[in-house]
Parts: sequence; C-alpha cells; structure tokens
Amino acid sequence: MAAVSKINAEVFFSPVQVDELLLRDKNVVVIDILRASTTIAVALNNGAREIIPVPSIESAVKISGSLFGEVTLRGGERHGKIIEGFNLGNSPAEYTEEIVKGKSIIYCTTNGSLAITKGRHAKNLVVGSFVNVTKVAEFINQLSEDFSVLCAGQLNNFCVEDTVCAGMLLYKIQELFKKNLSMDDSASASISLYKVYNKTILKMIQQSSHGKYLSDIGFGDDLKICANVDSIPVVPVLSGNLITLKK
Ligand code: MLT
Repeated sequence: MAAVSKINAEVFFSPVQVDELLLRDKNVVVIDILRASTTIAVALNNGAREIIPVPSIESAVKISGSLFGEVTLRGGERHGKIIEGFNLGNSPAEYTEEIVKGKSIIYCTTNGSLAITKGRHAKNLVVGSFVNVTKVAEFINQLSEDFSVLCAGQLNNFCVEDTVCAGMLLYKIQELFKKNLSMDDSASASISLYKVYNKTILKMIQQSSHGKYLSDIGFGDDLKICANVDSIPVVPVLSGNLITLKK
C-alpha cells in the first residue's frame, strides 16, 4: 500500500521568531486578526486595486513621493489610531467601496504590515483572517505543499486571536480537506486553542488584550467585523511588493 504523504505545517506566534531568510521560498499565511488581515480583505473586496505593505512610516512617506497622488491613499495606524498625514486609519469600516475603489493603498501598521514584509521572499504569501479562513484553507489545500503560518501577534508577543485563527485554518485543512498534516508543537497548540474557543470567537476577541484596547479607544464595532467567519471569501496574495486578490 502506498504511503500517504504528509504535509509539514508550522506556526510562528510572533514575527520575532522569523526573518526574511527563514521564510524565503516557503508557503506562508500571515494572520493579523486585529486588524490588518481583516482590513486588507475588506479593502480588496471593496475594489482597492492593490495594497502596498510597508514596514515603517518612513517607507510609506518615501513610496508616496513616487506614486500619483489621486490614485494613492495612505492607510494604517500607530497605537490603533490614524497616522498623522494619512488618509485612512486601520478600521476595516473605513475602507468602503466609495473610498477605496480603484485605489492603491500604501499600508503601514504596527504588527501586520511588518509581518507581511518579512515574508516578501516567500514562494507564496497569503493574508488570512477569520473573514476568509475557508478560502485560505482551500488555497493551501490546493498547493499541497509544506506551509508556515505567521501570526503577527501584538508588539512582538503572542496573541490569542491570531493563534485561534491559525488553529481554525489548520483544523479546516485537516478535517475539511482531509490533508495529512505533520505539525510542530505550536501548530498542535493552535488547534487545541481553537477547540477551546470555536463557539465563542467574538467573545474571545472581545476579551483579548488587543480587543479590549481597541474597544477602549472606540473601535469596539471593528471586533464584530473581524470575528465574522467566512464573511469575505477572498484570497489576498503578495506578489512582489503588492497585495492583490488571487485571480
Ligand atoms: C497591526 O497591524 O498592528 C494592527 O492591525 C493594529 C490595529 O489594530 O490597528
């Protein structure tokens, strides 16, 4: 009987665990539930032409200078709030069709855009969140190759919402698509955590430290958008320096 081939799945709880070299030529899913991954899915679904993730405000300003003003927006946050001189903050609710359709968005956030730029030499990089988790699971399933999940975390630390989503993704790949995964301890722990919270995703997000912080500064409604599983079935992929929807 032919042996069933296993696919290796690993999870990183924070971008400090990786660098560009480690992610080079790998298949990578970057997850930043609050709120970068969710906001990217919303923006592209609402017709943004592309998202240009940058690791710092300085890079955002530098890149803006070489792009046409009327088709380019600058979006992102520091401490959850809009950056001075930017057009948009980081609330997914701001990225409406009216505002983003046809626009290139230079995007700078504390954890998410930084994690994405660390994976710019990946073989495939896809942006995952609760709102598109099944679509991303499908994408990984079709690749049928080893993959890594990079949680953006919060300020270089573990965060529960990214890890639960990583666990949901792995669980779907295993159970829905019947893939035989060989998991590292972080991946197994993510699935265990997902099983604890799978019926209470919104509550888990509301009780997370980042969730509480966002509620305190007036973005409590964003948590509902971020917790809405499979509400935006898109696959945002990084190609070169641009995130666009997979055709
Ligand atoms: C980030 O990338 O650090 C986050 O999206 C922060 C936020 O909630 O705005």
